[in-house]
Amino acid sequence: MQTFPSDFVWGTATAAYQIEGAWNEDGKGESIWDRFSHTPGKIKNGDTGDIACDHYHRWRADIDLMKALGLQAYRFSIAWARLLPAGRRRPNQAGLDFYDLLVDGLLEAGIIPYVTLYHWDLPQALQDEGGWPARSTAEAFVEYADLATRALGDRVKNWITHNEPWVAAFVGHEKGEHAPGWQEPRAAIHAGHHLLLSHGWAVPVIRRNSPGAQVGITLNLTHIMPASPSPADGKMARFIDGYINRWFLDPLFGRNYPRDILDVYTAQGHVDAGAPEFVQPGDMQIITTPIDFLGVNYYTRDVVRDEQAPDNLPPTVIQAPQEQWTPMGWEVYPQGLYDLLVRVQADYAPARVYITENGMSLETGPDERGRVKDQRRIDYLHGHFQSAWRAIQEGVPLKGYFIWSLMDNFEWARGGSQRFGLVWVDFSTQQRLPKDSAYWYKEVIARNGF
Ligand code: FCB
Repeated sequence: MQTFPSDFVWGTATAAYQIEGAWNEDGKGESIWDRFSHTPGKIKNGDTGDIACDHYHRWRADIDLMKALGLQAYRFSIAWARLLPAGRRRPNQAGLDFYDLLVDGLLEAGIIPYVTLYHWDLPQALQDEGGWPARSTAEAFVEYADLATRALGDRVKNWITHNEPWVAAFVGHEKGEHAPGWQEPRAAIHAGHHLLLSHGWAVPVIRRNSPGAQVGITLNLTHIMPASPSPADGKMARFIDGYINRWFLDPLFGRNYPRDILDVYTAQGHVDAGAPEFVQPGDMQIITTPIDFLGVNYYTRDVVRDEQAPDNLPPTVIQAPQEQWTPMGWEVYPQGLYDLLVRVQADYAPARVYITENGMSLETGPDERGRVKDQRRIDYLHGHFQSAWRAIQEGVPLKGYFIWSLMDNFEWARGGSQRFGLVWVDFSTQQRLPKDSAYWYKEVIARNGF
């Protein structure tokens, strides 16, 4: 039996837009994800988060469910546009009340809330003023962080400023697959900077409003390996590591933006030569404001090959046999979590680390007896728990683990097609049904190990 430290925290994670629904109720403002999902052609099968898991109306039953599954902690996000429909000024009391009751309900159930302030749902009003590529959005974020933490900071003691700024910046503004759907590399770089800047500005505000709180940020990190020992593949792997991992880790941990990536962006014309034009004096200092923990979202590794490979394959390839892919097309590679955690510790030495997301999508639904036999998810989690446990033995200060996700939900551009939940959701009836993995996880939590 592998046992975790006695203060280890086991939970699940969700995000507001993916579960709440009630997209325009009780004074909530429109967000960029409302706008994006209402734009034809953006989301698989035309799905939207208008209703999602209807958690906005069913949160009490959802807390009961969490309690029944023995969860110790719950990571959720606040919809900025519920609190500030226009992004800034004029708070919406109904929105504040919703999270107020949710937090009280969790605490009554003995579940520790971990709150993410920004999980991608920027108020559309701020998008109309330029969105994250504009510096003013970072200023608005601080106003929002101040409001949220003044309202909840007496009871919520674990705060995550941003979820996956790389995805918000680059998938949203360079690849265009997420809201706001831009394809402008320069805007993506600026958006990333303002996300980081807003994080640094918000940290002391959160600490002031929430005495004794632990404050951190969550990054999507991936373990990157070259596809072959060739120097060309090695170089490309180094670039992808810089593009996804180091571009955010380096500035957060006092090292500035990585020079090699800046040089590539300059050569591509996305950054002006010389000092990057989007960085104002003092910015990098603000971004390195010490944090209490680093949140790591890990799902898979990236195997990288040089773009000029003769067979014309894209730079990121997955070499594993198909049966090891999840329906997302992500390879199951638990060893990558261990390698990543150990590497991050060696290179950046965060004071504490949480796995703020890990999990897999799987189509498996209820059988004729109403049981969801998602053994593949159990195997996936088991493998990753093992990696986490090994990393702790190596000295990584890992303090907790949040499974993505509590329940099946709206999976962004893939809509309802990807089911990540420990709990099955029938979206036509909103019925919830714990899968085998939920019962298995309950056992892991009860034993604090496996
Ligand atoms: C992460 C997101 C989360 C969820 C998982 C599958 O990138 O943070 O909201 O969609 O992927």
